[in-house]
Amino acid sequence: TYIVTDACIRCKFTDCVEVCPVDCFYEGENMLVIHPDECIDCGVCEPECPVEAIVPDTEDDPDGKWLALNSKYAEAWPNITVKKDPPPDYQKYETETGKLEKYFS
Ligand code: SF4
Ligand code: F3S
Repeated sequence: TYIVTDACIRCKFTDCVEVCPVDCFYEGENMLVIHPDECIDCGVCEPECPVEAIVPDTEDDPDGKWLALNSKYAEAWPNITVKKDPPPDYQKYETETGKLEKYFS
């Protein structure tokens, strides 16, 4: 499966949702997640994200932290299928790392 990771937090460009053939993105206040059981691994969303927040779960997630987060919140948050504007202050967060610990709620 593919998963959404730290770079999405407070950027939320939502380009990804427009291309997913199975509509498996879910929206929280600060980031989106992919439902790992619904994702068909097509990979088309990965290049759409301007901040490269989307990765296969086999990369950049050695302890499974992001896969667990995607799984958990995909069950709790509403589905999103239509692109919307990013937060007005997204540029402040585009290159920041470690956003999960600072901003995720
Ligand atoms: Fe959707 Fe394909 Fe991305 Fe999975 S890899 S979230 S199915 S676009
Ligand atoms: Fe987030 Fe990138 Fe989608 S910033 S909303 S994963 S296009």
